[in-house]
Amino acid sequence: MRAGRSPLVVANWKMNKTAREAAAFAEEFLSLRPSLPDAVGVAIAPAFPVLERLGRLLTHTQVLLAAQDVHTESKGAFTGEVSAPMLRDLGVSLALVGHSERRRDRKEDEASFARKIERLLENGIAPLYCVGETLEERDGGRTDEVLARQMTALDAFGSLPAGLVVAYEPVWAIGTGRAASSAMAADTHRQIRSLLSKRYGSDLAASVRILYGGSVTPANAVSLFGEEEIDGGLVGGASLVPADFAALVKAAG
Ligand code: PGA
Repeated sequence: MRAGRSPLVVANWKMNKTAREAAAFAEEFLSLRPSLPDAVGVAIAPAFPVLERLGRLLTHTQVLLAAQDVHTESKGAFTGEVSAPMLRDLGVSLALVGHSERRRDRKEDEASFARKIERLLENGIAPLYCVGETLEERDGGRTDEVLARQMTALDAFGSLPAGLVVAYEPVWAIGTGRAASSAMAADTHRQIRSLLSKRYGSDLAASVRILYGGSVTPANAVSLFGEEEIDGGLVGGASLVPADFAALVKAAG
C-alpha cells in the first residue's frame, strides 16, 4: 500500500449466499467492524437477487455495496440481464467488469467491457476492472501482451474513468489455493500501472488503486498487502466467512 492511495478490500461472493445467508454474514461482520481499521475501504459484491437486502443492512455503515457485473445497455429487450440504472437504484457504488469467469464462460471481450464501464460511469458507479493471464499465457511468456490487450477496454476513455479500480487476478490463482507470490504480483501491478500511465499520465495513474485477487487468505494477506504496489484485494473464497474477511480487512490496514 502506498501513501495517498487508500486500501480497499472487496468481497466477491460469486454465486454463493442467499439473502438470508447474506444477512447473517452482515450481522456478524458488522459486529467485528469496530475492531477493524477505519482507513480500509470495504465492499461486498453479492449475487444480484441479494443486493437489495444486503444494501439495506449496509445503509449507514461504511461498507459499500458492489455488483458482480452489469449489462452493456441501459435498458431494453435483454432477458435475464441487469442494467446500471437498476444497480444505482439499489445503492450500488462499485461494480466488477471483466472477471475472468465471465471472460471464460460468456466469451465477453474488451469492446463489451468498455461499454459496461461507460454505463457504470453514466450512473455514478465506480468500475472495478479485472485483468489477468491464464497459466498457459504466463508459461508462454505472454503475460505482457495479454494485459496490454485487456487494458484496451480503457481506450474508449480520454480521461481517467471516475473511481476506476483495477484488479489483477491471475486466472491460475483464482480458487486454486495457489496465490501469486507477493513479488510476482507487485511486478505485474507495476506493469499495469505503466499501462495506465501511457493513457492518463503518471500522476493520475499513481492515484488508481490496483487490487490483487486469487487465493487471498488471512495467511498470505499481510505479505501481499505489504507490497507498496498492492492496494488491497478482490477476494472470493475467503470472503465468505465473516472472521476471515475481517482478518483480510485488518491485514490491509
Ligand atoms: P478466490 O477468488 O479468492 O476464491 O481465489 C478471487 C476472485 O475470483 O475474485
